[in-house]
Amino acid sequence: MSNTFRNITGTFDILPAPYSVGGSQVAGSAAWQFVEATIRVVMGRFNVQEIRTPIFEQTELIARGVGQLTDIVSKEMFAFERGDTNYVLRPEVTAPVMRAYLQHHLDQQGGVQKLYYIGPCFRAERPQKGRFRQFHQFGCEVIGTPDARADAEVIALMMAVYEAFGVNETTLRLNTLGDEASRPRYKAALQAYLSPYEARLSETSRERLSTNPLRILDTKNADEQDLLQGAPVLVDYIDAESRAHYEELKGLLGDLGVAFVEDPFLVRGLDYYTRTAFELERPNLGAQSALAGGGRYDLLAVEVGSKRPVPAVGFAAGLERLFLALFEQGTALPEAPKPQVFFVALGDEAARWVFSKAQALRHAGLRVGLDLNGRSMKAQMREANRQGAPFTVIVGKDELAAEKAQVKTMETGDQVEVGFNDLTAYLDSEGNATRP
Ligand code: HAM
Repeated sequence: MSNTFRNITGTFDILPAPYSVGGSQVAGSAAWQFVEATIRVVMGRFNVQEIRTPIFEQTELIARGVGQLTDIVSKEMFAFERGDTNYVLRPEVTAPVMRAYLQHHLDQQGGVQKLYYIGPCFRAERPQKGRFRQFHQFGCEVIGTPDARADAEVIALMMAVYEAFGVNETTLRLNTLGDEASRPRYKAALQAYLSPYEARLSETSRERLSTNPLRILDTKNADEQDLLQGAPVLVDYIDAESRAHYEELKGLLGDLGVAFVEDPFLVRGLDYYTRTAFELERPNLGAQSALAGGGRYDLLAVEVGSKRPVPAVGFAAGLERLFLALFEQGTALPEAPKPQVFFVALGDEAARWVFSKAQALRHAGLRVGLDLNGRSMKAQMREANRQGAPFTVIVGKDELAAEKAQVKTMETGDQVEVGFNDLTAYLDSEGNATRP
């Protein structure tokens, strides 16, 4: 048995360079930084501020927020106990954001709160391509308004993120789930329709028939999909106000030029939604097709302890699935930045001088590499090459005596002498020219 540790199945390390594991590509850390920075820019354009909440919360918050009967809460939680409190690694961020909103009385700051997040989430799902046990979500929550413009803005923001990356072939599916009274009426109608066919249903769907029949609408089973063709549709059961809200939202999306398809079978895997529900899909994302999803959740605040309902709407998206789309499209992603200069020293005295000079150049703002292993000049040159530094600064006994270094341009092999005091200025101006 090997005694080296490995990362836990369904998680992955992000390294400086991209790599593949089990047929899946993992982007390098510079690409992650670039993607996250781009998301932040788009969030900023929509005047959304960042919020960061802890990665673990009380289990009760998630259970009540997301819903006891959902797969997420009933099957997929990484939960643990300490003292007499139960904790869970957050499977999503909407309930934690609402908790923070209520706890810090953000409603008293007046106006609508528009908050975004980027960070890890945890679900004990069966790992496969595009599906992990630790994955990363970015998302936005607009809290404090029932206005359909908030729903339209959230959707437009989500689309703008994918547009910023040039992701194409996406389909936005849209539905309305009605208010809290519509749902039980529809649930009863669906149960009445499906019950005679119980024997034809899969085991999962049979289980859901009594507990959470709306989730059967999500089925990937072809026979069940056929069966559902004749099923009652949610739209016929929803209240007039929700219907008007939905019409307004569709009109606003039309004004913004956001294309969508209506999908009366779209239900989401979380229980807190009322009215608007949407999902952004793209083919070839592994076993599933959702890039992102969201909707309105006007009752969540009450579920997690607020005395008054707080109308809100938001979306969340998986970063890994965004990367899958980028890989599939062959989008070029930034690589780890290279040093602007690599110092090569010959002999102990030169090594000492180089070590100090390198720090000085770093303080002046340059990216500087050097050998930390006391290796031969040849090995140091090889390392400079491997790291892709455009310049090497070579210093030995003679250079120390003359107070001049040999500066080699790696691409051409040209070498010039530069006085020690002029090095920073020389490399900075030359380095600027080669910066990405
Ligand atoms: P969700 O649909 O459960 O919604 O997750 C949103 C996105 O997270 C999915 O579309 C997918 O891209 C990504 N995702 C979910 N699970 C995994 C996984 N195991 N591996 C990789 N990616 C995954 C929510 O979480 C809601 N909080 C969205 C929301 C925000 N609703 C209102 N505001």
